[in-house]
Amino acid sequence: MKKRKQMITPLIFLLSITFLLMTSYKNNHKDPLDRFKTVSHYKQEKQNRYEDYQRQNPNLSTEEIVTHVNIGIDQAPYTNTMQTPFLNKIYLLTNKYLYLPENYIPNELERVDDTYTNGNKQLVKEAKIAFEQMAYDAKKEGYTIRVVSAYRSYSYQQVLYQNYVLKDGIEKADTYSARPGFSEHQTGLVIDVDNKEKDFNHFELTEEFTWMKKNASKYGFILRYPKGKEKITGYNYEAWHYRYVGKKIAQDIVQKDITLDEYYVKYIENN
Ligand code: DAL
Ligand code: ZN
Repeated sequence: MKKRKQMITPLIFLLSITFLLMTSYKNNHKDPLDRFKTVSHYKQEKQNRYEDYQRQNPNLSTEEIVTHVNIGIDQAPYTNTMQTPFLNKIYLLTNKYLYLPENYIPNELERVDDTYTNGNKQLVKEAKIAFEQMAYDAKKEGYTIRVVSAYRSYSYQQVLYQNYVLKDGIEKADTYSARPGFSEHQTGLVIDVDNKEKDFNHFELTEEFTWMKKNASKYGFILRYPKGKEKITGYNYEAWHYRYVGKKIAQDIVQKDITLDEYYVKYIENN
């Protein structure tokens, strides 16, 4: 009896070790198909694109692969585009894959108080109220935040983009200007700002930039094209371009340190 017990204990031990080793092997050698499926925003119809993109980017995590492909950045900009859903919502997304209809004019556009602009700028009401509060509070602390560009119509963006192409060529223009229909400015939820003293494209060098970095999300604004995220947003870093998404999303984005494009495919488009 005692002998039998002596034999059983090592046997159980051996079996447990074997089980543990097998489980660990299985987890580390998961079929790549299954690996993508574990990501919450996985889409069956994009399976082949996940696989191709992973082959081209072996250093990215499974989660990054799914996120990037869902945004569309495995394909050349402007080659596989669709009309963006959620028009007139503060979480609507436009980028080089999602466009706004040519005739889209946001609801409730209102003129921003001229105290805080260089003249005649419009925003969607909710964004306008948030901006004016932000500019007012900044002013109380001694900082000047002024809107130099806000809502831009499709046709105005067309003129801007055409001029940039004439000046710099398509390839360069595409790094800093959106094509008509693809500009966030057409949403009426965006501001380009300066501090009245320096040109807006030197905004990064101002104390107002530091103030915005600390405070913009409290008012619902995010820096839309951050430094180091050019591959994801599709645009050069823009220290002056802020997008209104509401306080909750803005604070979430800052806390997670991700772009709106990433946030959108992870938390918005399927919910
Ligand atoms: N400069 C930004 C990307 C625009 O043209 O909308
Ligand atoms: Zn802008």
